[in-house]
Amino acid sequence: AIGPAADLQIVNKHISPDGFSRSTVLAGGSFPGPVIKGNKGDRFLLNVEDKLSDTTMLTDTSIHWHGFFQKGTNWADGPSWVTQCPITPERSFLYDFEVPSQAGTFWYHSHLSTQYCDGLRGAMVVYDPKDPQRHLYDIDDDSTVITLADWYHYPALQQPAGRPATFNSTLINGLGRYQNGPLSNLAVINVSHGKRYRFRLVSISCDPNFNFTIDGHQMTIIEVDGVNHQPLTVDSIQIFAGQRYSFVLNANQPVSNYWVRAQPNSGNTGFVNATNSAILRYAGASTCDPTTSSTSKQPLLETALHPLVPSIVPGKHVPGGADKNFVFNITVDPATGKFLINGTTFTNPSVPVLLQLLSGAHTAQELMPKGNNVYELKPNQVVEVSIIGGSLGAPHPFHLHGHNFYVVRSAGNSTYNWDNPVIRDVVTTGSSANDLTTFRFVTDNAGPWFLHCHIDWHLDAGLALVFAENIPAIGKENPPVSWDQLCPTYHHVHPNST
Ligand code: C2O
Repeated sequence: AIGPAADLQIVNKHISPDGFSRSTVLAGGSFPGPVIKGNKGDRFLLNVEDKLSDTTMLTDTSIHWHGFFQKGTNWADGPSWVTQCPITPERSFLYDFEVPSQAGTFWYHSHLSTQYCDGLRGAMVVYDPKDPQRHLYDIDDDSTVITLADWYHYPALQQPAGRPATFNSTLINGLGRYQNGPLSNLAVINVSHGKRYRFRLVSISCDPNFNFTIDGHQMTIIEVDGVNHQPLTVDSIQIFAGQRYSFVLNANQPVSNYWVRAQPNSGNTGFVNATNSAILRYAGASTCDPTTSSTSKQPLLETALHPLVPSIVPGKHVPGGADKNFVFNITVDPATGKFLINGTTFTNPSVPVLLQLLSGAHTAQELMPKGNNVYELKPNQVVEVSIIGGSLGAPHPFHLHGHNFYVVRSAGNSTYNWDNPVIRDVVTTGSSANDLTTFRFVTDNAGPWFLHCHIDWHLDAGLALVFAENIPAIGKENPPVSWDQLCPTYHHVHPNST
């Protein structure tokens, strides 16, 4: 683990996490990248150095620190073409931001095209020395971070037309097996009998969601996406791309080995040769593979999650009762494979949105003259967003940068929940035309913030929009960011000068 101040070199490397060797793009030379740790209140100084040269993958990069509000430092948020130009080879970029109010489980990943599918992804943990739920667990250290990833045998750029690509294996803590592949090593998660562990489950997926279970054990959820929640005991957790949970596991079962399972909802779903699995091993157990079978019954229902500090949903407690109400209908163009939100697909602007704002663009219209999915938000307003999965027929996990939000209507529910609903930063849509997912947030954070599907193939196919929040305040940070810092190799042409 590293941090909170560290150099992070982005390198190409051949690795074979599931027994199949391929070239990758890695943070710090490992998959997943090193866990980046800090404490609540810390200042993170992460110097990202681009050492990439393998042109079968992208050699530029930029990194998003997923889940952090970046209040006053929206320039450090990381998405290429929204807040910065991509970092080019042999250059570096210093991400400098503070985490004054947040603690819990986060992650980081490339935010350039589909580059994180090639490996640039890892977990981040912000510890709270005054965690109000500290009495619920004994152990919370590097050994309790669990990452779930889909893994591909070929670089993202070489994936066949008609994306999304099909992944070859599921990696738990960077190890896994593919169907009919060798019996390569699986991750082992070690516990001691009688101890209670705070596991930090992070989906660093590019695409599938996973049903996560541990044979013979229940899990008590205490944190969702960096927000403490009231303890909720479940047998399985369906976790979507970008989501995180902390759960307490009581190691109170007979000393033995138990399968840890991450069943993807698509692609390689089999458990043959323990595909999609890791091993929970009690101290004193043999080093054999487990022989346990799956027993889970009680799935997690999002509507059963309630923040520890009761969440008071802002605005009127009726649908459409916010200051600003959006309904987004998502569709796909079968001819091109492009996704559209209310009829428009997101394409990268030629000048990052933030630079356009710093250069004097004042309205969404000026920012994207062709109506390219930029929506202006005024400060200090309650915003309600409803997303209709519509005809797409599969769940889409939407992530909002710069905020988390109150989920007042979860996919698959026809009713609204105004009473202490879950707070998170990735929420899935449902799959039918009547199935709304609705959330609210308050515009208290100036910046251009991405809202997009966290299936990386879909983001790349335009399933995204930008909220330009409190435009007059953007660029008034102290110290201010400069064009040269964000786009050192970009021509100094005013975006509106031609
Ligand atoms: Cu974790 Cu815009 O993403």
